[in-house]
Amino acid sequence: MYWNAKLERLDPEALQELQLTRLREIMARAAASPFYGRRLQEAGLTAADLRSLDDFRRLPLTTKDELRAHGKEMLTRPLTDMVRLHASSGTTGQATVIYYTRADIEAWADLVARSLYMAGMRADDVFQNMMGYGLFTGGLGFHYGAERLGALTIPIGAGNSQRQLQLMQQFGTTAVHIIPSYALYLLNTFAQHGLAPRSLSLRLAFLGAEPHSEDMRRRIEAAYGVRAYNSYGLSEMNGPGVAFECPEQNGMHVWEDSFLMEVLDPVTLEPVAPGETGELVFTNLTRQGMPLLRYRTRDLASYDLAPCACGRRFKRLSRIKGRSDDMVIIKGVNIFPMQIDKVLMAMPEVGTHYLVELSRVDFNDQMLVKVEVQQSFFQEDLKYLKQLQKRITEALKSELLVTPRVELVEPNALPRSEGKAQRVIDKRS
Ligand code: COA
Ligand code: AMP
Ligand code: ZN
Repeated sequence: MYWNAKLERLDPEALQELQLTRLREIMARAAASPFYGRRLQEAGLTAADLRSLDDFRRLPLTTKDELRAHGKEMLTRPLTDMVRLHASSGTTGQATVIYYTRADIEAWADLVARSLYMAGMRADDVFQNMMGYGLFTGGLGFHYGAERLGALTIPIGAGNSQRQLQLMQQFGTTAVHIIPSYALYLLNTFAQHGLAPRSLSLRLAFLGAEPHSEDMRRRIEAAYGVRAYNSYGLSEMNGPGVAFECPEQNGMHVWEDSFLMEVLDPVTLEPVAPGETGELVFTNLTRQGMPLLRYRTRDLASYDLAPCACGRRFKRLSRIKGRSDDMVIIKGVNIFPMQIDKVLMAMPEVGTHYLVELSRVDFNDQMLVKVEVQQSFFQEDLKYLKQLQKRITEALKSELLVTPRVELVEPNALPRSEGKAQRVIDKRS
């Protein structure tokens, strides 16, 4: 039942003691990096004089902008000691990059293995990973964890729906890692091929990368004949394997031996009480190469302290309830409106106004970008406009990693709003 019984069964007092010890270690390690060296000094904090978790709160939060601008200054060791990086989408200089040492990759794999084991996956399972490989952490993160656990791992990645079905049939897939909206969308492909998902060997589904409701989980469970578990993580804290559901399905246990979690009011930045919604702030407790201290995730959620029937005392995180910034998630890909702005405003043909509409058709996320074209270009022939439309689509896809539908409109065709223009309308429920 436990991958690491000693750690997973720690009681709150022992856990707090372990966290304090690890916090001192990580502060000492982080102090070797130029960024945190400065920051700790400015806050007048040293590992030696840290008496309680409250002391640690004197350290200012680390933001995504700081990570973008100073990421490399957060390394505690030379770049030659790093063996991998993962990055968010975005133009050079805007992407957030996380570097991992070999030990970091191993610790991460162990956390994912622990999560999968908790949810019931075993070495004799056949695991099909339907998340994006490459720079996304959902691919390789789960991959290494599943291998560590000993499961036969199929690294198919995202997309390619028909092939997903073939592999499930051919190799008797028992467990999948899948984006929840795609799991529901994929049911169409099953129907087109006259195949019943329940007739396959599937028994477990791990759902992550985007917010989803209890209703969606239940639908996936019913359609596929599986038990489905919520999986939360973010690249800045390795990737998946930060919080994961146990068989009780009553919130995601946060792996507090590896991550210190704070839940703060996004305005006052004061801690909120259990059950209240706040912004998640995490500190790596064990990372070697690039530990982040008090990282502001912008994810909103609440937590529960009550003991769980599974025997673990780690806090349980609610579903992610939203964001305290303007990031949106489309097909499991994180997108900041600023990225769209940058692409469009760099094109001389584009006017000053555009509008992004997000919708979900048949559980498939759609992104429609209506773009006002400058008068002089709008008068060009249809062939020219078609080419322009194609160029804009490609430029956006290259920046965002999802393909939008682009519609060119006349100057002044889009509604003007008073005050700050609302550029993104999310029509998904
Ligand atoms: N997950 C997996 N596959 C998806 C998907 C999703 N959320 N949404 C769509 N797809 C499938 C489509 O069904 C299609 O396959 P098919 O034609 O064989 O049915 C294929 O991906 C391409 O779809 P399209 O809508 O044309 O793709 P796009 O260019 O807009 O986006 C994706 C391409 C889906 C591959 C890209 O958005 C992606 O990699 N998403 C997954 C991100 C991820 O893994 N996030 C986890 C982060 S930890
Ligand atoms: P990335 O850094 O690409 O791994 O994306 C991390 C972000 O994806 C998080 O900050 C969340 O906003 C979102 N996310 C990841 N897992 C979940 C989940 N289970 N539920 C809701 N949102 C999630
Ligand atoms: Zn539990």
